[in-house]
Amino acid sequence: MLCTLAHTRKLAVPGEGPAPAPVMLIGEGPGRNEDEQGRPFVGASGKFLEELLAAAGLQRAQVYITNVVKCRPPENRDPLPAEVAACAGYLERQIELVDPRVIVTLGRFSMARWFPVERISAIHGQARQFGARLVVPMFHPAAALHQPKIRPQLLEDFAKLPQLIAQAAPATPRSAANVGGSTDQQLDLF
Ligand code: URA
Repeated sequence: MLCTLAHTRKLAVPGEGPAPAPVMLIGEGPGRNEDEQGRPFVGASGKFLEELLAAAGLQRAQVYITNVVKCRPPENRDPLPAEVAACAGYLERQIELVDPRVIVTLGRFSMARWFPVERISAIHGQARQFGARLVVPMFHPAAALHQPKIRPQLLEDFAKLPQLIAQAAPATPRSAANVGGSTDQQLDLF
């Protein structure tokens, strides 16, 4: 046991999908439904995530889906820095094994691994190269469930995925494109 979330969770939710996979999606942490089933993104935000993937011409079974923390924080509170740190080794190993060309961070907790100081409202949808991988920060699907204006932004960002997957083919380095965007501070909560 690496942190105390193991005391309150029902099931650990390690992640699921093929390995290797071209795309890895990284959310925040399991919610109630995920905790019950031991699978990531199976509740309302999972349903919307599947719609978003469809907008990119992708099926859930084609991508690897995981979270920053693998156990549900009580009452769905934000994961604490110590919990994120305790689980970081699992995520790093998953990235090695899944070896995705494109990593999509969903929400600010997974974004912080690659973009520790940026704001999601400013950089969502803008891919940046990290070694062999492109990392694309996106809003968390749950954000669109309570802030409708995020929905079209997420759809637009997901629609970029096919091209990003093609661009991120091995041995095809590309230059960063990550300036601009809106500066709505409220959206940075996600
Ligand atoms: N929200 C997340 O961040 N991850 C899940 O698995 C479900 C909801």
